[in-house]
Amino acid sequence: MLILGMESSCDETSAAVVEMADGVRAIRSNIIASQIETHRLYGGVVPEIASRAHIEAVTRITEEALSAAGVRLSDIGAVAVTSHPGLIGALLVGVNFAKSLAYANRIPLVSVNHIHAHVAAAYLTHPDLKPPFLALVVSGGHTSFYRVTDDTTYEEIGGTRDDAAGEAFDKIGRVIGLPYPSGAAMDSLAREGNPKAVALPSPALAGEEIALSFSGVKTAALNYLNGAAQKGISVNRADLAASYTARIVDAIGKKTELALRQTGLTTLVLAGGVAANTHLRAALETLCRRRRVRLAMSEPSLCGDNGAMVAAAGYFEYRAGHFAGTSLNASALDHPEAAV
Ligand code: KG4
Ligand code: ZN
Repeated sequence: MLILGMESSCDETSAAVVEMADGVRAIRSNIIASQIETHRLYGGVVPEIASRAHIEAVTRITEEALSAAGVRLSDIGAVAVTSHPGLIGALLVGVNFAKSLAYANRIPLVSVNHIHAHVAAAYLTHPDLKPPFLALVVSGGHTSFYRVTDDTTYEEIGGTRDDAAGEAFDKIGRVIGLPYPSGAAMDSLAREGNPKAVALPSPALAGEEIALSFSGVKTAALNYLNGAAQKGISVNRADLAASYTARIVDAIGKKTELALRQTGLTTLVLAGGVAANTHLRAALETLCRRRRVRLAMSEPSLCGDNGAMVAAAGYFEYRAGHFAGTSLNASALDHPEAAV
């Protein structure tokens, strides 16, 4: 079946047409309008500006997705839309657009959790992937581990206590003069430096909990930069990027190994914007080879926010009979159903 996937949770407006069936995953189109250039001026996403930019882009992006796929709305079997978590104003644009489109054209509507959509990107890259598996979602807003027992059932078993890894990369990248969002630039810069040059604390919390905290390593890197500035010493940015990346990657690897050991799962899915990080990919490849665990990473081009991953997740919600209606609302929360 053909699914129209719609994404507007943060700073990318995206619509995609994906064909999904047993063993079939074909991306017919995946149009992404990024607002990064607009937000770069402010060094981060400005929610009001994001909502407005989604409104301006959503109709055009959807038309482009349909025409690039060579299909009409009447060919679409379901409309899938990200309804949570994310920026509330941004989400509302996609949700209201998808609701109207589905209602007016009598197409079934399904609501998709943005985190599940990141994981579903791995289904597009690996058509034979099936639960149970351990999913690690590393993005600008999340660093979380999930036990995925079936295509729509996710149990969070650990993750960060504070910032997300993407946020940690963006923050230090910005301070050393890289453009927002600095994850990809930090990734390249880290390749040129010595990962042992700067002593920084590990974000992996001690003990048998699958818990991370990025605030300590972030503060230590800031103190290192401020200390050097006060002493008039110039900092080797590549060494700092390499050391910072190494601490973050090592910590994620350590807790991934713990999660694999505790759950006994033998497949690991790596997803989210930070899953594009070459150092993290290499470290998890080594770990999984050593533990004889299957590693299913999303293709780098599908790691960031996009409509195709929403369509993929929507397919499984559709198959499970989880339909949404005109009462569907957006929510900033990870678990809106748990909120009173
Ligand atoms: O998943 P995503 O597109 O949006 C959220 O749902 O948050 O993730 C965006 C995050 C940003 O923090 C960005 O800097 C980071 O992913 N990122 C990377 C890389 N590419 C994007 N972080 C590290 N290395 C990369 N290569
Ligand atoms: Zn995302």
